[in-house]
Amino acid sequence: MILVTGASGYIGSHTCVELLNAGRQIVGLDNLCNSSLDAVESVKKLTGKEFPFYVADLLDEESLERVFSENEIDSVIHFAGLKAVGESVAKPVWYYKNNISGTVNLLEAMQRHGVKRMVFSSSATVYGAPDEVPIREDAPTRTTNPYGSTKLYIEGILRDLCVADPEFSVALLRYFNPIGAHKSGLLGENPNGIPNNLMPRLCQAVKGQMKELTVFGTDYPTVDGTGVRDYIHVCDLARGHLHALKKIEKDFGIFVYNLGTGKGYSVFELINTFSRVNKVEVPYVICPRRPGDVASVFADPSKAKTELDWEAELGLDDMCADSWNFIKDK
Ligand code: NAD
Ligand code: UD1
Repeated sequence: MILVTGASGYIGSHTCVELLNAGRQIVGLDNLCNSSLDAVESVKKLTGKEFPFYVADLLDEESLERVFSENEIDSVIHFAGLKAVGESVAKPVWYYKNNISGTVNLLEAMQRHGVKRMVFSSSATVYGAPDEVPIREDAPTRTTNPYGSTKLYIEGILRDLCVADPEFSVALLRYFNPIGAHKSGLLGENPNGIPNNLMPRLCQAVKGQMKELTVFGTDYPTVDGTGVRDYIHVCDLARGHLHALKKIEKDFGIFVYNLGTGKGYSVFELINTFSRVNKVEVPYVICPRRPGDVASVFADPSKAKTELDWEAELGLDDMCADSWNFIKDK
C-alpha cells in the first residue's frame, strides 16, 4: 500500500487518480491546511474506488503512528508541505517546522515500520538562478528563499538516509511549473487568497476577480522580453510519480529527476495561447520586473525519459484549456 501525504492537494489528488487507475492501493493523509475533502470525493468519483483517508498533521506523531499501524504501507509519496514563496520569507520558522520537522516525523514513522521507499516532491526552485538552460539534474543547487531551502535540506536528509541504509530508495522529483487540471473539471488548483503564480493570476484577471494581469518585465533577454518557464500539465506530472515509484521498487539508492517538458514559454506566449484556446480576452498591464525573478528556466527532461521511460505528452493548449475548464465557474 502506498501512503500519499498531501493527498487532497493539487498535485497529490491528481496523482491519487493515476495510482488508483493503475490498480495501486493507496492511503491518503492531509491536514487540509491548503485543500479540502472535496478533492478526496472527486478522486473517488473519478476512479470509482474507495481508499482510506486520514485528516492528520505530519507534526502530530501520534496520528502518524496510527496511520502506519493501521495500514500495510510499503512506500510513501510525500507531497505534504507549505509552498508559498512569499509566505516563507515572512514566516521562515513556520516553513522550516512544517516542511522539515514534518518530513523528519514521517521518516521516523517509516523507520519504525520498516518502510524504505519514498518519492519526494522537490522543485526546480533548488536550481535558484540557473547558470544555463536547459537545466540538467547535475546543475549546481542554491536557494533564494526559505521555501526553496526546505526543499534542499530535505533532499540532503534523504541523501544521508540512503547512505546510512543501503536498502533505502528515494526518488527526488524536481517539478518545473505545474499548471492545468483534470479533464473532468473535478480536480484542479483553486488557491485561497491572492495567488502568486502566473496561471491562477491570469485566470482571476479573466474572471474579473483581479482588474488585470500584471506582466512582470518585458526587458528580459528572451523571445519577447517576458520571462520564460517550463509549464507542465499536472496530469503528466502525476503520471511521472508512478514511473518514479516503479524505479525505486526496482533499485536501491537515491535518484534525482527533473519533471518538465523541456520547452520554455514566455508570459506573452501563455497569454496568447490562453486567449486563443479559450476564446477570452486576458486584460494585462506591463509592470517592472518582480524582484528575484530570472529570465529563463526550463528543464532538460532527458534523464527521466531514459531512466523512467516517462515524458510529458500534453502541450500548452491542453494546459490552458484544462485550467480554464476547472476554474471558470468557480
Ligand atoms: P498543495 O498545497 O495543493 O498540496 C500540499 C498539501 O499538503 C495540502 O493539501 C496541505 O493541506 C498539505 N499539508 C501541508 N502541510 C501539512 C502537514 N504538516 N501535515 C499534513 N498535510 C499538510 O500543493 P501542491 O501544488 O499540490 O504541491 C505538492 C508538493 O509539491 C509540495 O511539497 C510543493 O512544495 C511541491 N511543489 C509544488 C509546485 C507547484 O508549483 N505546485 C512546484 C514544485 C514543487
Ligand atoms: C514560482 C516560485 C518557485 C516555484 C514555481 C512553481 C517565486 C519567486 N518562485 O516560480 O519557487 O517553484 O513558482 O510553482 O515565487 N509572472 C507575471 N505576472 C504574474 C505572475 C508571474 O508576469 O502575475 C511571470 C513571472 O515573472 C515569471 C512567470 O510569469 O516569468 C512565471 O511565474 P510564476 O508562476 O510565479 O512561477 P516562477 O516564477 O517560475
